[in-house]
Amino acid sequence: MDTNEFALLKLFLVGLLATDSFNIEPTSPQPKKVCNESRLQWEMEVCGEDFKRKMAHIDQQYWCNLTHFIREYHFFTFCTEEKSQILDCYWPNPLVESYIIRIHKHFFSNCTMEPVIWVDPPDDTLTILILIPVFLTLAMIALVVWCSKRSDILA
Ligand SMILES: *[C@@H]1O[C@H](CO)[C@@H](O)[C@H](O)[C@H]1NC(C)=O
Ligand SMILES: *[C@@H]1O[C@H](CO)[C@@H](O)[C@H](O)[C@H]1NC(C)=O
Ligand SMILES: *[C@@H]1O[C@H](CO)[C@@H](O)[C@H](O)[C@H]1NC(C)=O
Repeated sequence: MDTNEFALLKLFLVGLLATDSFNIEPTSPQPKKVCNESRLQWEMEVCGEDFKRKMAHIDQQYWCNLTHFIREYHFFTFCTEEKSQILDCYWPNPLVESYIIRIHKHFFSNCTMEPVIWVDPPDDTLTILILIPVFLTLAMIALVVWCSKRSDILA
């Protein structure tokens, strides 16, 4: 695992924790709109195409240097998040994750500290690292639900 990848992941995590993706209201169930996955897939492509266009302006030799594309990456993450919210999909969700993995593979698969042999990173590593914020989100939701239930009882 490359330091840049860690940096990206931290960014992802910080972005996740900084969002108001916790504004799901588990206590007041409204007729919830269903996430249209085909539409979401399409929107992810739009976010990704935009990111690819921007990356194309950056010299390939800098593709492994986070300093050179942090703005673009942040924008991309923000895009996936925003579209998910607009479409009433959870963020992050498996569809978005697999898309982000695809983008990572496309741009950062060659990024490594070891200059000699590069083994393709096992999908598992990335998946696990992406799952961490997902579990954090779930834990937070559980906590919110638990706290609101508790205050209901106390009230
Ligand atoms: C999902 O979005 C697509 C494209 O906008 C649309 O054609 C389709 O009817 C939508 N499906 C549902 C179930 O709303
Ligand atoms: C990344 O780019 C910045 C700015 O050009 C440079 O200062 C830094 O040394 C680079 N880092 C690496 C690891 O190449
Ligand atoms: C990664 O390396 C392979 C083989 O050297 C090359 O064909 C490919 O274009 C590179 N991909 C990126 C994103 O730099």
